[in-house]
Amino acid sequence: MTSSEIRQSFLDFFKSKEHRIVQSASVIPHGDPTLLFTNAGMNQFKDVFLGSGKRDYSRAADTQKCIRVSGKHNDLEEVGFDTYHHTFFEMLGNWSFGDYYKAEAIEWAWELMTEVWKLDKNRLYATVYRTDDEAYKLWKRFLPESKILRFDEKDNFWEMGETGPCGPCSEIHYDRTPDMSGVKLVNAGTPDVIEIWNLVFIQYNRKQGGTLEDLKAKHVDTGMGFERICAVIQGKSSNYDTDVFMPLINEIEKLSGKKYSTELKNPDDVAMRVIADHIRTLSFAIADGAMPSNEGRGYVLRRILRRASRFSKNIGIKEPVLYKLVPVLVEIMKDVFPELTSHQSIIERVIKAEEESFLQTLERGLEIFEDIKNRLVQTNKNLISGADAFQLYDTFGFPIDLTELLARENNLTIDKAGFDEKLEEQRERSRNARKTLTKDVEIHDIKAKSVFIGYDELSSEAKVLYVNGNQIILDRTPFYAESGGQISDTGTITLGGQKYNVIDVRKYGNAIVHICDTEVESLIGEIALAEVEIDRRRNIMRNHSATHLLHEALRQVLGEHVKQAGSLVAPDYLRFDFNHFEKVNDDDLKKIESVVNEKIFQNIDVRTDVLPIEEAKKTPGIKMFFGDKYGDIVRVVKMDESFSQEFCGGTHVKNTSEIGFFKIISESSIAAGVRRIEAITGKSIEEFINNTQEKISGKQSEIEQLQVQIKQLEKEVSSYKMGDIKTQMQEWLKQAKIINGIRIVSQKVESDDLEQLRQIGENLRDELGKQGIGLIASILNEKVQLVCVVTDDLMKKYPAGKIAGEAAKQIGGAGGGKPHLATAGGKDISKLPDLLNNFESMIEKFIS
Ligand code: ALA
Repeated sequence: MTSSEIRQSFLDFFKSKEHRIVQSASVIPHGDPTLLFTNAGMNQFKDVFLGSGKRDYSRAADTQKCIRVSGKHNDLEEVGFDTYHHTFFEMLGNWSFGDYYKAEAIEWAWELMTEVWKLDKNRLYATVYRTDDEAYKLWKRFLPESKILRFDEKDNFWEMGETGPCGPCSEIHYDRTPDMSGVKLVNAGTPDVIEIWNLVFIQYNRKQGGTLEDLKAKHVDTGMGFERICAVIQGKSSNYDTDVFMPLINEIEKLSGKKYSTELKNPDDVAMRVIADHIRTLSFAIADGAMPSNEGRGYVLRRILRRASRFSKNIGIKEPVLYKLVPVLVEIMKDVFPELTSHQSIIERVIKAEEESFLQTLERGLEIFEDIKNRLVQTNKNLISGADAFQLYDTFGFPIDLTELLARENNLTIDKAGFDEKLEEQRERSRNARKTLTKDVEIHDIKAKSVFIGYDELSSEAKVLYVNGNQIILDRTPFYAESGGQISDTGTITLGGQKYNVIDVRKYGNAIVHICDTEVESLIGEIALAEVEIDRRRNIMRNHSATHLLHEALRQVLGEHVKQAGSLVAPDYLRFDFNHFEKVNDDDLKKIESVVNEKIFQNIDVRTDVLPIEEAKKTPGIKMFFGDKYGDIVRVVKMDESFSQEFCGGTHVKNTSEIGFFKIISESSIAAGVRRIEAITGKSIEEFINNTQEKISGKQSEIEQLQVQIKQLEKEVSSYKMGDIKTQMQEWLKQAKIINGIRIVSQKVESDDLEQLRQIGENLRDELGKQGIGLIASILNEKVQLVCVVTDDLMKKYPAGKIAGEAAKQIGGAGGGKPHLATAGGKDISKLPDLLNNFESMIEKFIS
């Protein structure tokens, strides 16, 4: 059978099973921003599986043009080096949309393979998902258990991408080993046993974040590699030996003067396979509207073209040659894919121009590569640095996979991480350059209209209306553009398989312009996925609703004169400026906070009315801010109608309880008669409390440290004082009066407390040693404190207690204590000098 006949027999077979034969979808996915290229037959039915779309048939079959060069399904690296992977291939598929399920899918697959195509039953194996007993049992009708194999998620759970429809699958593999001994080679990555058909039992939707959600209905999605089944039916060991590829290979032989052999490793053969494969991808992609470029999908195509061009040089072709293969391809495919014929001339021209421009730099780049190689060889190294790989990329247009290929051929490796780093640096540079450039650029003549749907939705698909550099306008968007004090949303826009970061949003006329941090591929008319950064937006909504509550609380606590003078609603805090003649005191701030928090705790639903402005103005107690422009139709946001009703276009929580908690963090003056309050809510409170706690415990340990320090210093001071006093004591001893051989000291000293004074007394007693009596006095707490000391040899005769008691009398007090040391106190400070002057005569009397 020819390949055309095989294709047709597949479609006829499923037509006989009541399937609608449909057209292949474009290889450029229109309407699915998560994909760069169509990668499976089911792509065009994604909406049916998810339950959001309908068809007027419940069974379908087709041949689908697929490209697998990026994302979850990427076969680029294998292409050329084996005989059964392709960047472009046809996928024959049949589908059931909630109609038949596993039994029919398996039975019909078997019937087509063994009865229509008459494949040798002994060469077939089936695989099933490890827990899928149902499929296992169904296969037992046709195959012995030894040929039904269970595999896990990696091989038998099929997913379209990071998100989307998915489910367990059952695959059919074909054994080419001469003695049919290939059971061990299933899923082992060899051409001896290859997968030819995949039956997927779609029953889940993989959601963002990875969770699986059950679909409403169960579906069948099958995919058979057309080029592989042709090889099997035509008895070829390589897809490239079939009539799908041979005309291309023959043309390449002619153009290069080289022969295609069947040596797998022969470099000429590898090159011919790469070229034959890549020309198909390029032609179909261009026919469906893609163009080589520096971004996204276009860049993938450019890389593929350069890879093919490089291989053509390897087989000795110096001129642009790929475009010369287009007529051959058109000839093979035109009956099934007439778009090739209608776009033939543009396909040829685009490919030729790309080849020409690449070949110019290739020559120079290859010289540079030679230099790099020689340098490495001389120094006995084999690692190409990231900087060198980047230079080849940046200056000579070598895609990294091309450099990798060259490296592989020369037994070298590349510092890929180093290359990525350089690439990121360059991206950062151009991002920064563009940021300053285009954030300020005015977009002129915009007639586009965007609908803001962000009151209810935070993510949505939308049509691209306009792209200019890093600015993009959609027909509808959940992104809020700064206005009424509420700042813009941030998030991402996914388009053509690329994710762009939205860093700002502006309104121009009726258009909402998303400003991205890098240039956006101009895919006007396509569907983009716009996703607002959810947590950030929720915080903004909390703060906006809290601002309305604060406004009313201020009026209730401070008075009716309070009017809004401005506001800012950000994710991390809110700011509210209002007219008021004086500082708001702490008590009032507390009252204001508690009025707001009371409303939060009351779980009040936030309601919004949309009505003509004239009608809205009649609402009693309605607040409007004269800094804002209002249209004819306004939104009125209400929280407990008797409390807050305000004109507002911003976004709000659904219920006040979502705000969580409200806390004022500052109150200040910004102009005469205008005060500013800054406050936080929700999540920010958590941070605030944690910070405050940290500060407090920081202060506490500071205090403790200080206390320790103070004690230490006090000790030092007192020991200094003691030192001083000891020196003084020598003076006191010199001045001492001597009566009957007894030295008598009487002095006034500075001391901090009685304890210290007592210590001084002890010291004095030590200094006196023998035959001594001392009296020291200090003014403490506006009283005279006395310490009297007597040396050991005298204390029996003249006990200190007695002397102290006598002395105290003279200053209007009393005292007593031990014979060697006694203390006394008296209120009469004025008598102290007399006491000290007359102390020796007092002792004299004592002695006599
Ligand atoms: N969608 C399934 C696949 O691509 C059939 O293998």
